[in-house]
Amino acid sequence: MEIEGLKGKAAELAKELRKEKLPKHVAVIMDGNGRWAKKRGLPRVKGHERGAKTLRKVVELSAKLGIKYLTAFAFSKENWKRPREEIDFLMGLLRRYLKNEVPTLEKNGIKLEVAGDLEELPGDLQEKIKGAVERTSSGERLELILAINYGGRAEILRAAKGMAREGNFSQEAFRRHLYLPHVPDPDLLIRTSGEIRISNFLLWQIAYTELYFTPVLWPDFNEREYIKALLDYQRRERRFGRV
Ligand code: FPP
Repeated sequence: MEIEGLKGKAAELAKELRKEKLPKHVAVIMDGNGRWAKKRGLPRVKGHERGAKTLRKVVELSAKLGIKYLTAFAFSKENWKRPREEIDFLMGLLRRYLKNEVPTLEKNGIKLEVAGDLEELPGDLQEKIKGAVERTSSGERLELILAINYGGRAEILRAAKGMAREGNFSQEAFRRHLYLPHVPDPDLLIRTSGEIRISNFLLWQIAYTELYFTPVLWPDFNEREYIKALLDYQRRERRFGRV
């Protein structure tokens, strides 16, 4: 594929991409920000700051490629166990991200959505998220889903309760009670930083998802690395239980 704005090795690699075999939904666990900063003798939060820039690049390239859904794990339910200052910084980074990115998202036809228990977030952030979701709601090019205060088990429990209320115990009924029932399951899940685990992300949805793990730390993950992951995905044979 020819992608406008791509240069050098990334552009060269992109030529090998086949449009018809691209994933429709990519999910990312943006791991390794802290280690990236530590390696440089910087405070951990600097890694998160760089991580936000990486996310911007990945969103932009996803839109250009024609990927329809991108889910990024921004804050997990377990992340509340981090030092207070780091949590505050991450909340502040989210505020800044929304403030800076929403106009661009809106302009580029990117619809922002969130998955997670928002009511446990600071009140002003909840309002900012709602505002951003509303402002971008007509976007049709790409849906950017930020998983915030998200946990896969919590989502499953929530859906199970919803299903019980409904009195319908089918997979379809269960799905209706996920945070975002309209979003198809991810085709590809990328985790950076060399950890080979799922860490309570999208447990129900990844039943048939192709998994891609790379040692590259999230702040170093760039267009080239993303295209490498997509090429790896395109080489796989997906059978969904068939022969
Ligand atoms: C994991 O790295 C990353 C997080 C817990 C936060 C993810 C957040 C961002 C990438 C910031 C950008 C997002 C938005 C929407 C503003 P880590 O801290 O666990 O790294 P480590 O494993 O090296 O310590």
